[in-house]
Amino acid sequence: MSAKHDHEAEPVVHEYDGIQECDNSLPNWWLATFAATIIFGGLYWFHYEAFHFGESPNEVYQTELDQRAAAEAEKIKKAGAITPEALVSLSKDKGTVATGQDIFKKNCVQCHREDAGGNVGPNLTDNAWLHGGSPDAIFKTVSQGVPAKGMQPWQPQLGVERTMAVVAYVLTLKNTNVPGGKAPQGTVE
Ligand code: HEC
Repeated sequence: MSAKHDHEAEPVVHEYDGIQECDNSLPNWWLATFAATIIFGGLYWFHYEAFHFGESPNEVYQTELDQRAAAEAEKIKKAGAITPEALVSLSKDKGTVATGQDIFKKNCVQCHREDAGGNVGPNLTDNAWLHGGSPDAIFKTVSQGVPAKGMQPWQPQLGVERTMAVVAYVLTLKNTNVPGGKAPQGTVE
């Protein structure tokens, strides 16, 4: 193979030490691919970032988690078993937690405050518990109450499923430490 460049249409623009550099035009297939990546990048950006037509992988993942949690919650409600695992699963289901929050707003805020920071009743957003902060302990306190201290048993009034829902909501409050909450009472967990 000759080192000399002999193509007339692509003139040599630089030569050094017998090595020739030509000003060749880029192949069309290369230019087409390059243009395609720019167009793809632009469309991708408009689709996912600028106008949010498409869900990002994170959003798709979150939606899948939400759907799983909801399906799991359905199963738990059908099975009707009150276990710590069941209560924790319910606390991850948005629908159940929203129902629980609604129940809390209607029945619990006069003593535990709108944000659960505590009033007559203790702060439910700290890490200290008078009757235990595990899911089953909280379920027991809410369902059986502490009548001697003014907290009524809620299960007779709410039923099992709604008691579980409000407990699921209370579980989401643990350690959120709302500002201006009542000083911790009981044992730190
Ligand atoms: C009439 C006031 C009152 C209402 C209404 C009330 N509570 Fe209470 N709650 C209390 C009091 C007082 C205590 C503390 C009992 C004690 O000192 O042993 C308490 C304790 C608790 C505890 C245990 C906290 C701990 O530190 O162990 C939980 C959980 C709880 N309440 C949840 C609820 C939920 C959920 C509702 C609504 C369904 C509710 N409470 C409604 C007064 C109330």
